[in-house]
Amino acid sequence: EVKIDHLLKDAGKDFFLIGMAGDLPARYSAEELALAAEHFAAITPENCMKPERLHPQENQWQFERADALVEWARQNQMTIHGHTLVWHAQTPGWFFEGDDKEVIKQRMKEHIHTLVGRYKGQLQSWDVVNEAIDDRGGPQAAKTENLRNSKWLQALGPEFLTLAFQYAHEADPTAVLYYNDYNIESGSKHESSMVLLRRLLADGAPIHAVGIQGHWRSGSVPFKEIEKAITDYASLGLKVSITELDVTIRGASGGQFGGGFNRRGFRSATPPSLEDLKQQADDYAQLFAIFKKHQDVIERVTFWGLNDRRTWRWGQHPLLFDAGNHPKPAYVAIVDEL
Ligand code: XIL
Repeated sequence: EVKIDHLLKDAGKDFFLIGMAGDLPARYSAEELALAAEHFAAITPENCMKPERLHPQENQWQFERADALVEWARQNQMTIHGHTLVWHAQTPGWFFEGDDKEVIKQRMKEHIHTLVGRYKGQLQSWDVVNEAIDDRGGPQAAKTENLRNSKWLQALGPEFLTLAFQYAHEADPTAVLYYNDYNIESGSKHESSMVLLRRLLADGAPIHAVGIQGHWRSGSVPFKEIEKAITDYASLGLKVSITELDVTIRGASGGQFGGGFNRRGFRSATPPSLEDLKQQADDYAQLFAIFKKHQDVIERVTFWGLNDRRTWRWGQHPLLFDAGNHPKPAYVAIVDEL
């Protein structure tokens, strides 16, 4: 059994915010809500502020879940990071209907102005553009922005990023604005991210920070590349956050291999071995050693979920609390490191 002497959010307080993702409070148990409020200083809405949820039709906004999250976070003194304004996924097709560039630009503007404006002063920061760089890299691609062939790119060209940042800044001039992506610490995707960020800065886009998502695998976390990426982004004058941290346990699998249902009807996962949990704790400790070393640059470290039940990587035990809300070895390893 793992015992907690010091709270993670207190251990991190002098360095950066420690956050979690979720669409709280609806459909979370009282125990989970208490856990979230006790251990985390920041929250990112996991899905409820994405375009498909909030703005399914051009003249239809559904703010209930998002409003409830903002109110819950306020009551629990948690900082809120908005996620996400312009993305190729979870974005309804109506944005792109009609092929008229000016109309599509206007829809993007209206979406961002309405959403960012509604929570102005209540959300500290926003992921303005999410995952714009293509995964297929290589030496040639590394010299370019290598943008993903998304509907945003098709409709508006590479300028779509600059526009999104401008619109967000207009709607809330004090919000910290992020470019957010995965694997941008590694290989040619990292090089492309530097090309893209330099262009945005040269164009005068109001971009303030980079979000390294941080979906990594235990036993193969690219520590060296992560540290270099942090210093590379800092050299551009940008802040950095780890926005969606989870370290999955290799070999462990949920879903079809995860073995059955328990008697209450929940899927049950193959439990991780002690050795797996130790490796994961070491990985997290090493990561936080890097984050602490670069505390001047890092604003926030957010875990993508609350516990090993409330995670998109279900069955791979990626987080700091198990499915029964008990702290794992990784929790204590991080607190000891900080
Ligand atoms: C994921 C959510 O966790 C899932 O619940 C949802 O079904 C799909 O999206 N990168 C992101 C996040 O920026 O928005 C994604 O979240 C995970 C990958």
